Amino acid sequence: MNFVLLGAPGAGKGTQAELMRERLNLEHLSTGDLLRAEMNAQSELGAKAKSYVESGSLVPDELIISMIKEKLTKIGPDKKGFILDGFPRTVAQAQALDKMLSELGAKLDYVLYFEVSWDVVKERLLGRRVCKNCGAIYHIKNKPPENEGVCDLCGGELYQRKDDTEEVIKNRFEVYEEQTAPVIDFYKTKGLLKTINSNTSAEDTYSQIEALISDRV
Ligand code: AP5
Repeated sequence: MNFVLLGAPGAGKGTQAELMRERLNLEHLSTGDLLRAEMNAQSELGAKAKSYVESGSLVPDELIISMIKEKLTKIGPDKKGFILDGFPRTVAQAQALDKMLSELGAKLDYVLYFEVSWDVVKERLLGRRVCKNCGAIYHIKNKPPENEGVCDLCGGELYQRKDDTEEVIKNRFEVYEEQTAPVIDFYKTKGLLKTINSNTSAEDTYSQIEALISDRV
């Protein structure tokens, strides 16, 4: 099964994608995580993406599309499908994805739109902490690690993303409303969109996904 996860910054896409990856044996491709890894590795792509990511603007479509295309072609046969988290984020990216998938002889099964209120996401983003080593996602109140600042899974150091500040969060939201919200209509028209209420706990949100796909697993 192949999924696209859509939703505002902080809607919980990464959190649900990790649960789905583990429980459904899917490949998780997060464009945000891939870009941050390129930035940490100081690659050419990382250098080109840095100022966009840190200011909360979108990285140009052509860079993102070629990065995803490369990853999609490398998914191993041991996986039961993929989750695209943070891609597509513009209608041009959604059209490019259609083309890529038809070339690969694949298709999307579900586009999950995580609906959430502004107050909830703001609190989630300001409290988010991420493991520098394995990328596990925490929250200072909703999902605190056992030992402050230390990842439960690998012992790595937890950090606050540079784009999780009040000012950058505001920009990310404006960019989302302008450039990503139209992608919701793109998939609604295709009949693929399923809305998930993400104002609830992570497990309650996952239960909604589980119910949706119950006849397929
Ligand atoms: P990206 O990393 O994709 O950021 P985002 O879309 O803003 O999404 P987030 O990672 O902030 O939120 P999320 O929905 O995954 O929430 P999470 O599960 O972590 O992109 C970063 C940047 O990269 C972009 O601004 C852009 O510059 C660039 N970029 C990426 N993709 C691109 C593309 N396709 N095109 C162009 N540029 C691109 O949860 C947030 C917090 O809430 C966590 O602390 C978590 O523990 C907590 N939480 C989650 N769910 C729950 C719940 N149900 N209850 C309580 N707490 C919860």
